[in-house]
Amino acid sequence: MAAKRMIFSAILLNSIAPIPDGMWRHPRAAAGYDFATPEYWEDLARTLERGGFDAVFLADLLHPHEVYRGSHDPTLQFGAQCPIHDPLMVAPVVARASRHLGIGVTVSTSAEYPYQLARRFATLDHLTGGRMGWNVITSFNEGSFRALGIEQPPREERYARADEFLNLCYELWDSWDEDAVVADRDSGTYTDPAKVKLVDHEGKYFSCRALFPVKPSPQGRPVIWQAGSSPEGRDFAARHAELIFAIQQWTPEMRAFDDDMRGRIAAAGRDQEKARVMYQLQVVTGETEAAAKAKLAELEGLVRVEGALVLMSGIFGYDFSQHDPSDPLTDVAATGVRAGLESILAASERQEGGFTIADAARLYGLSSGSPLVVGSPSQVADTLEEFADEGGADGFNLLPTDMPGSYRDFVDLVIPELRRRGRVRTHYAGTTLRENLFQP
Ligand SMILES: Cc1cc2nc3c(=O)[nH]c(=O)nc-3n(C[C@H](O)[C@H](O)[C@H](O)COP(=O)(O)O)c2cc1C
Repeated sequence: MAAKRMIFSAILLNSIAPIPDGMWRHPRAAAGYDFATPEYWEDLARTLERGGFDAVFLADLLHPHEVYRGSHDPTLQFGAQCPIHDPLMVAPVVARASRHLGIGVTVSTSAEYPYQLARRFATLDHLTGGRMGWNVITSFNEGSFRALGIEQPPREERYARADEFLNLCYELWDSWDEDAVVADRDSGTYTDPAKVKLVDHEGKYFSCRALFPVKPSPQGRPVIWQAGSSPEGRDFAARHAELIFAIQQWTPEMRAFDDDMRGRIAAAGRDQEKARVMYQLQVVTGETEAAAKAKLAELEGLVRVEGALVLMSGIFGYDFSQHDPSDPLTDVAATGVRAGLESILAASERQEGGFTIADAARLYGLSSGSPLVVGSPSQVADTLEEFADEGGADGFNLLPTDMPGSYRDFVDLVIPELRRRGRVRTHYAGTTLRENLFQP
């Protein structure tokens, strides 16, 4: 049997950090390599496409962290995912610098109107030649809601609203028949009105009576990504997601997550072949194991405990400044992304004596609770194959460390090894993100 192909995306923010703590201080961080400029994204797009990646994936945070010490000051001081710019705008820049690379962008259903967002995604799907993906989030941090002047609904309601939001977007995107635009010079008809349905939606959360104004885009709908980890989040993913995105530390946990999701997808009446599961990873590699370990030591030297605690507090929704960093790590009442906390707790359990809060911060600051895979290209490839073959992973969302060096390392060192093993494409089979994702 042929080896299973692995899907790869690079997970970034449109931000300085760009996720692990303090990497902007790395000596290899290229001077002038600034996320706010098009050159940054163009260079990244070319690197990832050279490596046969499926997509660049932009996570997002609508409002900066403010949980640690109940203040914005540490966020600003440490550059803890702030400044952070709008991720959707990056899509056309990436598209112009590449031919096949997909662009997955995180947008919250709590912050938008379906009509407007459906229009924006359809427009971008045209501009990118059918390479858009949408990571659907409902927003977990209170600041995002306060910034918009709306109240944060409880989780179940956020997901119910997101369901209606998505179903309305589908209705809007599907309201034009594929052949509605005739552009017939002789008759003078541009669009056949009989092939465009008006949308008339009156639901619990949204009302929309509209003629959707965008003609059918290459993919029709963007590829839907989702990363909820609670039972509500997993059911939501099972109903909608084509790419399910998770954090699990070890192979058996990946297998359990995969089995759970396959069960939920079947229960939702969807074809399991239409969904893929990807795990977030931090890979540190070099020509040899010793070179990779030297790089790791350098990276560890950059992560600041307090900077990482700013991130952990914001993302988990719990203020770690209440504790001494030398206190043992225990489960806390996290209101945000519990998956990140659970993954760090799982790592702590496997360590003799468990983690202190500072240990947790040092690990989280580097890998955001994801597995940290360190080694030579063949050692990294072995681990990824184990995750794929025994854990059931369809692919990986790779965190950066220093930019652009860490993705160049992966593409120049690990990708050739994975290609030798038949795990990474040598060519893109289709033109759209969806076609390429589901290529064998
Ligand atoms: C791997 C992973 C990535 C996530 N990325 C984002 C993100 O970029 N922005 C965001 O606001 N939330 C993000 N989230 C949060 C989820 O969308 C969700 O709000 C959170 O996990 C809480 O929902 P849950 O209780 O269903 O897990 C992410 C969660 C996970 C597990």
